[in-house]
Amino acid sequence: MCGIIARVGSGDAADTLLSGLENLEYRGYDSAGIAVQNGSGVKVHKTSGEVDDLKSTLETRPSGNIGIGHTRWSTHGPPTEENAHPHTDTAGDVAVVHNGVIDNYDELRETLREKGHEFESDTDTEVIPHLIDEYREETGDTEGAIRRAVETLEGSYAIAAIVDGEERVYAARKGSPLVLGLDDSEWFLASDVPAFLDHTDEVIYLEDGDLVVLEPDTYRITDLEGDPVTRAVDTVDWDPEDAGKGQYDHYMHKEIHSQPTALANTIEGRIEDGDVAFEGLAPGSFADVESVQFVACGTSYHAAMDGEQLLRAAGIPTEVVRASEYGTNAGPVDDGTLAVAVTQSGETADTLDAVRTAASRGARTLAVTNVVGSTAAREADDAIYIRAGPEVGVAATKTYSSQAVTLALLTQRLAADVPDATPVKDRDGMLEALEELPQHVERVLEVGRATSLAREYLDSDSYFFIGNGFGHPVALEGALKFKEITYEHAEGFASGQLKHGPLALVTPETPVFAVYTGGDDEKTKTNAIEAQARGAPIVAVGPDDHPLIEIADAHLRVPDTHPVWAGLLANVQLQLLSYHAAKLLDRPIDKPRNLAKSVTVE
Ligand code: F6R
Repeated sequence: MCGIIARVGSGDAADTLLSGLENLEYRGYDSAGIAVQNGSGVKVHKTSGEVDDLKSTLETRPSGNIGIGHTRWSTHGPPTEENAHPHTDTAGDVAVVHNGVIDNYDELRETLREKGHEFESDTDTEVIPHLIDEYREETGDTEGAIRRAVETLEGSYAIAAIVDGEERVYAARKGSPLVLGLDDSEWFLASDVPAFLDHTDEVIYLEDGDLVVLEPDTYRITDLEGDPVTRAVDTVDWDPEDAGKGQYDHYMHKEIHSQPTALANTIEGRIEDGDVAFEGLAPGSFADVESVQFVACGTSYHAAMDGEQLLRAAGIPTEVVRASEYGTNAGPVDDGTLAVAVTQSGETADTLDAVRTAASRGARTLAVTNVVGSTAAREADDAIYIRAGPEVGVAATKTYSSQAVTLALLTQRLAADVPDATPVKDRDGMLEALEELPQHVERVLEVGRATSLAREYLDSDSYFFIGNGFGHPVALEGALKFKEITYEHAEGFASGQLKHGPLALVTPETPVFAVYTGGDDEKTKTNAIEAQARGAPIVAVGPDDHPLIEIADAHLRVPDTHPVWAGLLANVQLQLLSYHAAKLLDRPIDKPRNLAKSVTVE
């Protein structure tokens, strides 16, 4: 987690660094800081709190055309000003921002202390400027010192450094993302593209072991031996508008409302003549697959649960494993296994670890991700992009929907390719309904009932979400979103599980949201009635043929569609419910406490 940015160009860097950091705050928002280099030394400004707090401490922007910045999600030490980045060496000549974790910082700190270095923070990062300073003292060569410093570090890092008296930014990466942005007259480095998307869409995704030097009119990329390396320049097809809040109060609300467009992009060009095709993966690409393992966390795990049900229905042995559990509890893997990392960021440490383990056991790997150039996309044998556009709100919304659709399409491709797979039931009906899905989401967004229901049930003790089949992942996702942004207690269950314990908690103060996706789903009805008999208000979430319509206290309506997509529509209603409840409770919706969007620690 944590976001870093650097900028080299003409004119002052501070405003660019601050606005870039705002677009990276989804990576952490405990503390923030910048350092600029202006010919009279390296000036560091930092504070605990958010980028807004940093801005308000800077009555006048510091001048300097070269700078680095950081927004933090604490790992080592609390979110105090001392622990905020940039960190410097004792003399304050070298300033460093870092995203990652340095495993050997304790021993490095001890060695450096013995050599007279003084430390001010609890962070692992602070050893880096001290190390650079130590090696610079020995040779007078900053680039060599940085190369030697990163070779000494164990763990993961994306770092950017500025040094007193030098008109350049140095940067290096290993295991944490770092992307170079190239404009006509300025260069950027950042953890993610939205940090500089207002300025340029020309990017280079750096690789582990790359060391970059940015100067006002040139940049160089070398390996750790100092040999030049060439990296391809890509053009990002995200619109700068996508990275802003537009007319909305919160990114999350904007992202919920952008789902029709996101879904249209997800689907575009992927269904032809009733067949599903992904770029770079010709029909027949999965002919050697015998079984599938999805690995994912959180919301992505819920999206993968849909994929699991569809593949099992097609007769393909499939399991979905919580990535953090993979090392201790995953099924057997061989060279017929396709391990699919479902991760919108492509940087979740647990998911990367799981898919690497699967690869080491012989599996073929596939990343289903939103971020081009992400670690998952680069490391997997193949990548499929969900094309949701940048998602800034910490709570995943549009990426869930685009993942669910991408995975459903993937199951069609697999069912067609894998020998002996059962033809998918009502495949044509499902694909036809998919073409209408963006309009259906549009209609859900127009309904507005979620706002009044959020108000009606605001003072409840707890919120339960139940669903069966395709409704089960939606129940889990509805509860995750609700607790994540409202801080109220919420739980999701497979409908039939309610009576095996949780029913003890059901009272008139615990509304039960019953998700129905169509088809034969008597269980959800029976279980909701059992909860109602204990006094719980019941909210039916689903189309008009919801079996609870007659007896439910309220209805969150979705248009009639194929059962595979009904869950996605129900989920949009639940996203709105969570959003409006959190808004009424005045929660920091886009930045819920203790969380970050890209969880790059285990
Ligand atoms: C919840 C949420 C998280 C992520 C999880 C995995 O709203 O966003 O649960 O889904 O941290 O993230 P990715 O998909 O980036 O691997």
